[in-house]
Amino acid sequence: MKDVLILSIESSCDETSIAIVKNGCDVVALSILSQMDTHANYGGVVPEIASRMHTENITIVLEDVLNKANMKVSDVDAIAVTAEPGLLGSLLVGVEFAKVLSYVYKKPLIKVNHLIGHIYANKLENKLTFPNLSLIISGGHTELIKMTGDYEFELLGETQDDAIGEAFDKVARVLGLKYPGGPNIEKLAFEGENTYNLPKVLNDESYNFSYSGLKSSVINLVHNETQRGNTINKANLACSFQTAAVNELKRKLELALKNTGIKDVIIAGGVSANKFLRNELTDLCAKYNAKLNYPSFIYCTDNAAMIGAAAYPLYLKGEFANLDLNANSNANIC
Ligand code: KG4
Ligand code: ZN
Repeated sequence: MKDVLILSIESSCDETSIAIVKNGCDVVALSILSQMDTHANYGGVVPEIASRMHTENITIVLEDVLNKANMKVSDVDAIAVTAEPGLLGSLLVGVEFAKVLSYVYKKPLIKVNHLIGHIYANKLENKLTFPNLSLIISGGHTELIKMTGDYEFELLGETQDDAIGEAFDKVARVLGLKYPGGPNIEKLAFEGENTYNLPKVLNDESYNFSYSGLKSSVINLVHNETQRGNTINKANLACSFQTAAVNELKRKLELALKNTGIKDVIIAGGVSANKFLRNELTDLCAKYNAKLNYPSFIYCTDNAAMIGAAAYPLYLKGEFANLDLNANSNANIC
């Protein structure tokens, strides 16, 4: 069969990224331009600034990826783009850019869901095996999904309020750490111990998650201790928070491993870069003779290669979008 080259675009949050991916698994070239340093000045992503920067950067990123691949847009077979979910203004920059490329170069257009992209990031280095349990843990989502085949999803549970990454970012801010909080909490937690007694996140038997209670308990603890003039051991608090956050994932994943007997687990999204989390979930999976799969660090956080991987099954099925494709900030997987 002829090789299929997909040029994929990701701009749902604060990374402008374009990749060229062959047959849904080989990354020919990848370019990522992060706006992280700009947003760090504001303590989080400012949507208006994000979309403006995508507009400024997207042609630079395209040129960079084409140079790396030594290719022209006319060499690829299709244009794929993240159209949902994410920041509306940011998504629109990528979607409109993809539509222009599709129209000018007469290439089919493929609409990709960002969360499905995070799952398919696992296909860039390994095979996706079915059935599997996919745990999406990012700045905007916390979802446990059962996959029975390519693009066959069953939602088992999801967060009832904040996403796990959002909790990491808010707790980081109250501890005086820079955005993005997740990696900085992880670093600080490494120097501390689990000494603070924080509440269980969602103490029930569903597959759902909740992180706002845990987040608020850390914020209240910091405020109360500060008002009393007491010092906080930040490293111990970071470690206690990280442990509590990961324990809740473990509890719900263990329930699913027990109830379904599934032996393949995938973690996807920015928080899956966390090494403590990876180690804890690897141990849990081993207890059930299951295997934990996760992408390399570069493919954990937002990148366009994962969008190319997720677009490939749609290309094979001929599921193409029209030029009236629009962005959708709130879409789910299923
Ligand atoms: O997938 P992603 O890049 O963007 C979204 O789709 O949301 O995830 C970003 C999230 C942020 O909340 C960030 O703090 C978190 O992933 N994150 C981490 C780590 N690296 C990134 N959280 C915990 N530990 C990390 N090492
Ligand atoms: Zn993401």
